[in-house]
Amino acid sequence: MHAQTDTGSAQPRLRRPSKTIPGPPVRFRTLVSFLAFGSPRDLLSFYMDATRRYGDIVHFGRGLYSICFVAHPDYVKHVLQDNLHNYPKKNRFNDMLKPLAGEGLLTSDGEAWRYRRRLAQPAFHRQRLAGFATGMTEATQAMLARWAPLAERGQALDVSQEMRRVTLSIVGRALFSADIGADSDEMGRALTVIFEHFNHRFRHLLSWPDSVPTPRNRRFHTAIATIDRLSYRLIAEHRRADTDSGDLLSMLIAARDEETGQGLSDRQLRDEVGTFLAAGHETTAVTLSWVWYLLSKHPHIERQVHAELDEVLGGRTPTVEDIPRLRYTRMVIQETLRLYPPAWALSRGIADNDDIDGYPIPAGALMVLSPYVTHRHPAFWDNPEGFEPERFAPERVAERPRYAYFPFGGGPRQCIGNEFALMEAQLIIAMVVQRYRLQLVPGQHIEPDPIATLRPSSGVQVTLHAR
Ligand code: HEM
Repeated sequence: MHAQTDTGSAQPRLRRPSKTIPGPPVRFRTLVSFLAFGSPRDLLSFYMDATRRYGDIVHFGRGLYSICFVAHPDYVKHVLQDNLHNYPKKNRFNDMLKPLAGEGLLTSDGEAWRYRRRLAQPAFHRQRLAGFATGMTEATQAMLARWAPLAERGQALDVSQEMRRVTLSIVGRALFSADIGADSDEMGRALTVIFEHFNHRFRHLLSWPDSVPTPRNRRFHTAIATIDRLSYRLIAEHRRADTDSGDLLSMLIAARDEETGQGLSDRQLRDEVGTFLAAGHETTAVTLSWVWYLLSKHPHIERQVHAELDEVLGGRTPTVEDIPRLRYTRMVIQETLRLYPPAWALSRGIADNDDIDGYPIPAGALMVLSPYVTHRHPAFWDNPEGFEPERFAPERVAERPRYAYFPFGGGPRQCIGNEFALMEAQLIIAMVVQRYRLQLVPGQHIEPDPIATLRPSSGVQVTLHAR
């Protein structure tokens, strides 16, 4: 809020003139292009151009479509960390996720969120994470077995779809322990319908609300019902077994509130299952799809990954102990997350009027942050479009402000699965790269598609070449 200058009792109270947030004039055309998002790249270019033109804070639209967009790391820190209570998750974009994620960890706010986070956090402690590594390598092994005949025949495959399949299998094992087998295919199909629906809604803000029984909405509700049915069944089975099988669901079932001694209800558990299925596989799959794309475009970097894996593993299956030694592989993942952050935009509500660096932030507008844009900020990144994993050498990381890079968000709402995801990506890359070089099928035009996540437009077709 802005200070007021009291100039004495005879004078009227004067408001200190505040800066006005710069931004494009409100034009019907801008509004329409915002609602229709012509081509896939438009929304990314829209925010990139706006920051180039207006600077680190930009105001778009009015009324229902009043949006504050911040790109400077200090402003991002203000929203995610310093004054986070003023920027709740509740807003019209996050509300789209509710049918899947309910009032779970990703979408809840305030005390309800704090309680959920306290219960889920122990599952992501170092020792627990180590326990998930075997599930990760087993799922990757199964994928490689599927790939073997395709490699022999020289047949192309869509590696982004493969990555979605393997990461779903991994998060399924981490959540429910058992390989969910046939359920996993049914769940995978339902989640595909659900994500397509989110993507459609994201791209067409003027589409019918979920409650209108259009064919698309009906498919969506059927898919949600499938997730409900399978989740409740798995919850009931876990409750009956009454043992800590080391997975996330049994930990959540066993968890009790320190003060009241109460545990989570079936409905609350179902929301967490939906949350982890939603947040825990698509983002990692998108990251890995871009890793394969970037490695095949940069053979000298691919060679360094090969050299590291040959030296550290010498052909054996990686284990959790190898993770800290696969440094260059991790830097490749971090640099991929810089260029193509799957969560390319984060949104927040604005509870009260606020002030960011002298700019008045209006209550009720939507706050948008974009890792994609900040990760290309020329004041913090040289050659921002270049793929240079060395940027993530520890001494270079220390030179940058914390919020110049935030693919996992930040502050107390930072991604709970970030170490899980990095370990998973390292293990999958290590196992695939030891066996194959992935080459892009020529003639593809691959661009980032800014929908709910930053998927490569129309997948990534590759052929597999034995090393
Ligand atoms: C490369 C992979 C991943 C990326 C880029 C990613 C990104 C993010 C980001 C940006 C947020 C914060 C969203 C916001 O502030 O609005 C977030 C939150 C979250 N992520 Fe991830 N995520 C990844 C993997 C995972 C995995 C593997 C899991 C679970 C196994 C997971 C579970 C969650 C949950 C539950 C939240 C909500 C946390 C809270 O609000 O307390 N994520 N993620």
